[in-house]
Amino acid sequence: MSSNPRQLFVTTALPYANGNFHIGHIMEYIQADIWVRFQRMQGNAVNFVGADDTHGAPIMIAAEKAGKTPQQFVADIAAGRKQYLDGFHISFDNWHSTDAPENHELARQIYRDLRDRTDGSLIETKTIEQFFDPEKNMFLPDRYIKGECPKCHAKDQYGDNCENCGAVYAPTDLINPVSTLSGAKPELKNSEHFFFKLSDPRCVEFLEKWTQDGKLQPEVANKVKEWFSVRTNPDGSTSEGLGDWDISRDAPYFGIEIPDAPGKYFYVWLDAPIGYLASLKNLLEKRGENYDAYMANPAVEQYHFIGKDIVTFHTLFFPACLHFSGRKTPTNVFVHGFLTVNNGEKMSKSRGTGLDPLKYLSLGMNPEWLRYYLAAKLSARNEDIDFNADDFLARVNSDLVGKYINIASRAAGFLAKKFDHKLGVITEDGQQLLKLISAQKDNMQELYESRDFGKVLRETMLLADKVNVYVDANKPWELAKKEGMDARLHDVCTVCIEAFRLLTIYLKPVLPQLAYGVETFLKTKPFESSDAATQLGAEHSIGDYVHLMQRVDVKQLDALFEVPNEPLAGIDTAKTAIKSVASAPVAQSSSATIGIDDFAKVDLRIAKIVHCEAVEGSTKLLRLTLDVGEVDDAGQAKTRNVFSGIASSYKPADLLGKHTVMVANLAPRKMKFGMSEGMVLAASAADEKAQPGIYILEPMPGAQPGMRVS
Ligand code: MSP
Ligand code: ZN
Repeated sequence: MSSNPRQLFVTTALPYANGNFHIGHIMEYIQADIWVRFQRMQGNAVNFVGADDTHGAPIMIAAEKAGKTPQQFVADIAAGRKQYLDGFHISFDNWHSTDAPENHELARQIYRDLRDRTDGSLIETKTIEQFFDPEKNMFLPDRYIKGECPKCHAKDQYGDNCENCGAVYAPTDLINPVSTLSGAKPELKNSEHFFFKLSDPRCVEFLEKWTQDGKLQPEVANKVKEWFSVRTNPDGSTSEGLGDWDISRDAPYFGIEIPDAPGKYFYVWLDAPIGYLASLKNLLEKRGENYDAYMANPAVEQYHFIGKDIVTFHTLFFPACLHFSGRKTPTNVFVHGFLTVNNGEKMSKSRGTGLDPLKYLSLGMNPEWLRYYLAAKLSARNEDIDFNADDFLARVNSDLVGKYINIASRAAGFLAKKFDHKLGVITEDGQQLLKLISAQKDNMQELYESRDFGKVLRETMLLADKVNVYVDANKPWELAKKEGMDARLHDVCTVCIEAFRLLTIYLKPVLPQLAYGVETFLKTKPFESSDAATQLGAEHSIGDYVHLMQRVDVKQLDALFEVPNEPLAGIDTAKTAIKSVASAPVAQSSSATIGIDDFAKVDLRIAKIVHCEAVEGSTKLLRLTLDVGEVDDAGQAKTRNVFSGIASSYKPADLLGKHTVMVANLAPRKMKFGMSEGMVLAASAADEKAQPGIYILEPMPGAQPGMRVS
């Protein structure tokens, strides 16, 4: 770790606020999060931010259809983000919105700076002719116009290209065009638009340098280079070099009003990337730090993780807007390919081939399995990757659990039973093995820095193989049975634990929750990269081994990709979560028989009641704050809020500090008094009137928060 920590500002692309996250979004966040966590482990200071991309005609129209204001519509989408981000352990420092005041201000100021340049404005206006919907009273984006293809005469084609013959054209070329919003025949109308003069020699010169100075991935730089020589116009013809960029839209539009131009709004892609800055500004101001001072610091490095479909915006328009408005430009833009699911089939909800991230979580599948699997497939290159269910099962079970987790489980029992949880002295062969693992430290750091996560994991698994060879050669289970071999047994088990610790340090950016479990088990402070140069040493006391990770059950994968014809079990039961505690069990006699797999779907955990209070306005409910051994992204203990219908039987003071059992993977449920994030288990008689009383379950002493109940 350098004594001079780097200062990093990192973002992912801002998702459109017109739908929930899909697995492609989650992949991007996992990629960026791994890099960010690695940087934090290096001791660097990272501000990692995201936001919803809220503006534009599609969102405005979707809101209208939903009978909401656009503001309400995007607020509802925003409310759904947290469960995904927390669920997959994504450690954003802030999540904001492009409709927030910071963004309105920044976008307008950047525009003014571009317009008012003393060496000549980079903004100009031109009158363009565009289709207008006379019923809706608005100009129509291309995608809301349909008509007959001018080339092949296929009916019902979109305004910009024909799905039948592939022809590219302008919407004005369509035969018998109609507005898909109203069905009206659109009229051609003139409108004044604002343009950013990207074709200006100043811009071209700057961008040619900025994109070709070696910072971008080679395949990205090559693609961008082509745009400087030819471009394709809306009508399919080609022109030389960069064209000017139309940055305005006419009212009605959900967006940011252009200064000194009433009724004109910024095109969504002008203010969207400025949303990165707005989210950062909001974060810094919440912390009492100064945004301008931060951005003026030349040492601050700025990185954007994006997908391959939005490269033009991030390598041309955005850097040019920043540079010519007198601002810092990105240090780099990291481009990834697209994720496909099960052999490259396009992700489609209707056909059930997609991988629904919330369904994944509600099935009790470990989010770190997915982090591990995606990391294993990711490299620094801009290439597509495929989620394949069989491959997922094999990699998680045989590599992650089989090779790595097993190292600890093979040694921990002996240390606890025979050596009072204390580590012993390591002799020559063990030291050599540990040195070999430690020696990979710089290599791992370089691989993480260059986002070659697949290689990090391959190399880590090779090291795990070596440890397993050592274990198999020394057979601790046989040493344990032999007379006079205690010292050697202690030695071998200590090597396993020290090796396991080193491997965990290498894996921590990918598997933060698991690493937290290991830190707890080994009784150490949170691992940093530099810890790979050290050992715990003889006499260090470790805790009891708690199983750190389950294997993937093939049934879970079957359920994940099953096309749903009924609502998910988890969501269904969530509706009755409170009732099942407050009222009597359904039947005293037999319930339908279930298989072990059904039971395994219920993630039961030991929970400690760290806070308990009455709920104002309810005589039935208590509000419980539960510690289930979870941590937030900063490594701080994280608790769950659960409402439970047990106020008739318990006072808050009766429960405080007690342990109980909770269902940890119930879908969160919104109640009148707030979110309920699970339920606690309690017993009651079938006929509660005749036999009142609710009894909360309490485990035997020794059970710790987060332990699985099965
Ligand atoms: N709102 C714009 C981005 C504005 S950034 C200032 C947008 N939104 S998006 O929701 O369509 O996409 C957000 C990110 O997800 C983009 O980086 C996009 O490339 C990425 N992905 C969308 N589908 C994806 C996959 N199937 N696989 C991987 N990433 C994918 O574009
Ligand atoms: Zn056609």
